[in-house]
Amino acid sequence: MDKRELEQTLVLIKPDALKQSLTGYMLSLLSEVHTGLRFAGAKIVTVHKMLAEEHYAEHRGKPFFPSLIDYITGRIHYSEEDAWKRRVVALIYQGPDAIKKIRDIAGPTNPQQARDSKPGSVRALGTVIPVEDGNGAVVDSRMDNLIHASANPADAEREIKLWFAPYDIPPAMREFETAESDEHYYFKGGRLFTSHEPGSACIMAPGDVAWQSDLEALRSIMAGKKAACSLNTVVAKYLINEQRELISNPSSL
Ligand code: PPS
Repeated sequence: MDKRELEQTLVLIKPDALKQSLTGYMLSLLSEVHTGLRFAGAKIVTVHKMLAEEHYAEHRGKPFFPSLIDYITGRIHYSEEDAWKRRVVALIYQGPDAIKKIRDIAGPTNPQQARDSKPGSVRALGTVIPVEDGNGAVVDSRMDNLIHASANPADAEREIKLWFAPYDIPPAMREFETAESDEHYYFKGGRLFTSHEPGSACIMAPGDVAWQSDLEALRSIMAGKKAACSLNTVVAKYLINEQRELISNPSSL
């Protein structure tokens, strides 16, 4: 099969899009009739802080980062009373030029620029919100831009592996290398174990199919060696929609 047939990209339909009931409209714009792309994965996710921080890791330390995390975890658009509504729709689209096609439909990151240069794009319907410091001074802005779409093939691979495990994707549609685990791996309080600890989550068992790169990272971490990615990057997807307090700081869920 043509390699381009398999190109995949991650799309997140963000909490503001869900709140404004734009999901159906966005799915129509992205549908196979318009894009020639197919679904390879789909899930409803209550985004925990670890996942949010890993997804936007390259922006850590920027003035808009804390606000961006509050936004993608749903805290901006849903109050504590409506906390159960905090979620995003995570999708993998697959097909020729998937990344570029979806980025074109999404439009520029900044909704104001999207309205100027790409009216009709999804983000042209978004909002730019001032970000204030503790004293009420405006220090930056946050893009409430309704949709996330991977920017390039390296980002797409990192993001798909962050949000989805291989078993979330039909075997014939998996683009990235997988392997079978030969160990149990447990996670609790920011640490990895190969035998059960009370209160830990079993993230992998022998025979489970995982991303090859995740297994390599877990093996390196257990051996005390430097891994290609952090433990949180591997574990975050296994804590999606978990109710137990498995992260070191429960308030971060
Ligand atoms: S992009 O669109 O992915 O190429 O943009 P990038 O610069 O790589 O990603 C930035 C993400 O952070 C969100 N964000 C902001 N970016 C820049 N400046 C400000 N003030 C800002 N506030 C939020 C931006 O929306 C990008 O996330 P996504 O999910 O891709 O929209």
